[in-house]
Amino acid sequence: MRDQAKAKDLLEWYDAHARVLPWRVSTADRAAGSKPDPYRVWLSEIMLQQTTVAAVKDYFLKFTKTWPTVVNLAAADDAEIMAAWAGLGYYARARNLLKCARTIVEDYDGRFPKTRAELEKLPGIGPYTSAAISAIAYDLPETVVDGNVERVMSRLYAVEKPLPTSKQHLTELAETLTPVTRAGDYAQAVMDLGATICSPKNPACGICPWRDPCEARSRGIAAELPRKMPKAVKPTRKGFAYVVRRDDGAWLLETRPENGLLGGMLGWPGSEWSDDPVEVPPVETEWTENTAEVRHTFTHFHLRLTVFTAKVSKAGNPESGRFISHEDFKPSHLPTVMRKVFDVAKHDLASD
Ligand code: ADE
Repeated sequence: MRDQAKAKDLLEWYDAHARVLPWRVSTADRAAGSKPDPYRVWLSEIMLQQTTVAAVKDYFLKFTKTWPTVVNLAAADDAEIMAAWAGLGYYARARNLLKCARTIVEDYDGRFPKTRAELEKLPGIGPYTSAAISAIAYDLPETVVDGNVERVMSRLYAVEKPLPTSKQHLTELAETLTPVTRAGDYAQAVMDLGATICSPKNPACGICPWRDPCEARSRGIAAELPRKMPKAVKPTRKGFAYVVRRDDGAWLLETRPENGLLGGMLGWPGSEWSDDPVEVPPVETEWTENTAEVRHTFTHFHLRLTVFTAKVSKAGNPESGRFISHEDFKPSHLPTVMRKVFDVAKHDLASD
């Protein structure tokens, strides 16, 4: 049974308090009949997976300025997209973004399909993104479940079973609340509630549109929910990174293999990342070991990189990678860990 009363209260709150975000149609424009652009909804939802709204905003603006339509994006070079995505993380998203854009142009006449089943056939679109596009872009009554929604549901119904085991139950609870009309606004309203009022710590229950029906609030346990299973401890891996500069100022870089961590991204030549990596210098020369170690945390492990630097003459012939001129090399095109390596190495290699 659908509970339409709760959705109505939340939508009233959303009409007054929706966050202004670059991929959203404003409350005023919605009232005047503007509809969301499926391309912008898709792009924003891919960017927002595993990433905060604050981190995504500038990337979203840059992407939509450079590639205003899915046709423009599909026509971009792979390297351009990977460079523009640098720093946002989870780079498989960028590779799939491009594959998806090209499929939409080639097989779907440039238009995103509407149903979850059709959307989930596309690269990079899983249950979360299909529901988000279907609801937000096309207003179909689909239920969008992200971390915010899980937190809100676990509190509203005082679900004490820990995540991730409670996921299915929380999804079912969320489904019972999804309204038949304005499903897209409703989906974004629950996200906004989770991001602003029903926050992980110190939820502002006093001003919540769902304060009366909230079971966790009435039991005084809102801030304790959702409970979570203990996380596995992350292992630490080690590796070597080599930053080489030629005497004409060019930098030795490589495009990382498609399939693997940071796949398709630009990076410094280096060793594998493991418990006991083997040194694999890309040129035969005299190396300087930098005393500063680079630390970076990925989803499943911590990484510590030892950075070696070298200056080589023009004749140097690398075993891996290619030289990119100083003018063409943009540190902002590097993924974060490689950017950290550059920040450590650049002082050793400044041209004088
Ligand atoms: N997080 C993921 N998608 C979002 C959206 N459409 N609005 C706000 N936060 C989000």
